[in-house]
Amino acid sequence: MRLVITGVPGTGKTVLAQKIARKMKLRLVKINDVVVKKRLWKGKDRFGAKIVLMGPLQRELKRLMDAGNDLVMEGHLACEFPLPADLVVVCRTSPKLLEKRLSQRKYPKKKAEENLMAEMLDYCTICSLANYPKKKVFEIDTGKKLGENAREIEAIARGRGKKFLAGRIDWSKELEKQLG
Ligand SMILES: Nc1ncnc2c1ncn2[C@@H]1O[C@H](COP(=O)(O)OP(=O)(O)OP(=O)(O)O)[C@@H](O)[C@H]1O
Ligand SMILES: [Mg+2]
Repeated sequence: MRLVITGVPGTGKTVLAQKIARKMKLRLVKINDVVVKKRLWKGKDRFGAKIVLMGPLQRELKRLMDAGNDLVMEGHLACEFPLPADLVVVCRTSPKLLEKRLSQRKYPKKKAEENLMAEMLDYCTICSLANYPKKKVFEIDTGKKLGENAREIEAIARGRGKKFLAGRIDWSKELEKQLG
C-alpha cells in the first residue's frame, strides 16, 4: 500500500499519518523532512517559508515510492505532481476550525489567510484530481476525532471508501459568509 496524505497546512496530515503508519504498519515519510534532508529548496519566500525545488522533490518522492511498497507519505506538496500512489487522501477542515488551528500556531496572519482561502477553494482536492487518477482520490473531514479518521482511511484502503471519493466536501456556505 502506497498511501499519500495531503491537504492544506493545518488540516491534520502529520498527526493522522503518524496514527495510520502505526495502525497499518506503514513506513512514514514526511515530505517536509525529505525537503530538508536532501536540501531540495532554494531561498525563502516573503513569509520565510522554503521555496522548494519541485522537480527534484517529485523525483526523490517517486524514487522512495518505487523503492518501498508499504509507506504513507504526507505533505501538502504531494498534491502538486503525480506520484505512483495507490491512494491519495486529502485532509479537509472546515474554515472555522482551520482558522482556530492556524491561529494557535502563530502563523503570520497573511499566511493563515492564504491557507484558509486555499481550503475554501478546494485547492488540494482540485490539484490532486488534476494529478492523480480520479478513482484514487478521496477526501476526509479532519474535524472529527483522529481515531475515526484513521478508521475511514482503513476502510478506503480496503476498497470500502466509495462515499469518500473526492468532490463531496464543499465549504461554499462558509465562503459566502466570509465574503459578507
Ligand atoms: N482530528 C483531529 N482532532 C483534533 N485535533 C487535530 C486533528 N487533526 C489535527 N489536529 C490538530 O491540528 C493541528 C495541525 O495538525 P498537523 O500538524 O497534523 O497539520 P498538518 O496538516 O500536518 O500541517 P502542516 O502542513 O503545516 O504540517 C495540530 O495541533 C493537531 O494536533
Ligand atoms: Mg505537518
